[in-house]
Amino acid sequence: MDKKFKTAFVCTQCGAIHPKWQGQCRECGTWNSLAEERIVKSSKKIKKVAADKPRRLSAISLERFHGYHSGIAEFDRVLGGSLLPGCSLLLAGEPGIGKSTLILQAAESYSQAGIPVLYITGEESPAQIKVRADRLGLDGDKIDIINAVELEKILAVLEDNQYSIVIVDSIQTVACSYFDSAPGTVGQIREAAGRLIEKAKKDDIALFLIGHVTKEGVVAGPKVMEHMVDAVLHFEGDSGQMYRLLRPVKNRYGSTFELGVFEMTVSGLQPVDNPSTLFLSATPETARAGSVVAASCEGNRPILVEIQALVSAASYGTPQRVAGGFDGKRLALLLAILEKRGGVPMGSQDVFVSVAGGLRINEPALDLVVMTAIVSSLRDIPVAAGTVIAGELGLSGEVRAVSMAERRAAEAAKLGFERIILPEANLKGMDNTKIKLAGVTSLDNALDLIF
Ligand code: TYD
Ligand code: MG
Repeated sequence: MDKKFKTAFVCTQCGAIHPKWQGQCRECGTWNSLAEERIVKSSKKIKKVAADKPRRLSAISLERFHGYHSGIAEFDRVLGGSLLPGCSLLLAGEPGIGKSTLILQAAESYSQAGIPVLYITGEESPAQIKVRADRLGLDGDKIDIINAVELEKILAVLEDNQYSIVIVDSIQTVACSYFDSAPGTVGQIREAAGRLIEKAKKDDIALFLIGHVTKEGVVAGPKVMEHMVDAVLHFEGDSGQMYRLLRPVKNRYGSTFELGVFEMTVSGLQPVDNPSTLFLSATPETARAGSVVAASCEGNRPILVEIQALVSAASYGTPQRVAGGFDGKRLALLLAILEKRGGVPMGSQDVFVSVAGGLRINEPALDLVVMTAIVSSLRDIPVAAGTVIAGELGLSGEVRAVSMAERRAAEAAKLGFERIILPEANLKGMDNTKIKLAGVTSLDNALDLIF
């Protein structure tokens, strides 16, 4: 046991310090709020230190600050172009989503490019990682691997060797010997991540920390790390579906408006260059009642998706409103707008709306599409083939401008659609000759045009 450090249990609500773990904070009375933390006690007097001389920002050299490229375009783009030495990243996702697979593929690319990579595995044995590498068809002849869960051991390995990229899979398995609490608890994770990040900054190591989150959202772990790391990447997708999305939710060195799309295949994750083809079962030629193609955007990336609605007379009591891959409250709001501003009675109808392909989308430009799909199903009239739609709806039924209209139009044109229905306000200055542009100003106006 490392006697260098003392620990105590600190209430995360009020900061009261307790020598032992207990269920309730004795100061503020909050239940289950204690986390173990390292206590830095110093009997020494504060010593005087010489001041460093500040430098001009323009005089700071970036010579050693060039990044690493994995060569996996979808991955590099999400990282902001390249991976910088000394930066720490959290790759978070549900168990089984493919984090280890993604990071192993990236590790292979980095190491094959001559960058020394260390893979620290706490969850699986090196043999299991080897089996995965074989399955992925990776050589792994340039990746070093070690099975370690003790923080001190990991730090010692990093001390003795020079690695440019270090992967910790996963941070929940790392434990500091001077802590009493189990690995994966808030205090342990904060301490382990903190000291690894410190080491990475000092030695210019690019550090990947892998963290699990649960279906319900987040386990304490990754959340407490979010402000400690330079970038947080969420790896998500429906485990029943084959596609995976890599989304930066924080990036000090790049944009958070990126999106990486991968497909999980029998031989690992394959980058998807054209995500629209993945989510679209409709072609420009097919038209079905209740099914409408949306020119959507995820971050900076235009994606065409199909919105499907089913409206049927409610047989019992309160009509059902079910939204899949789309905000349920937004659906309720849209139905209220449709009833009040569009004059379509919805009170006795069950309404089911879903984004085809299991994608989750949260963007206002879907409003008009969802509305159109509902009306199309209700009236049993398909929207003319070759049409895509985007537009936000205001509470009084007005159609509001959407972001990145040109990109949406260009994507639709690329996939062979003939007409895009957009908010009138977006059409100014747009002259996309490859697709017919139709502007709408209000819900009524849009429904007249479409049906
Ligand atoms: P894994 O990377 O172990 O997930 P995580 O580290 O996030 O827990 O991947 C788990 C799933 O991926 C597993 O259920 C099997 C699937 N998979 C494939 O479909 N193809 C593959 O080539 C690999 C390696 C995994
Ligand atoms: Mg894993």
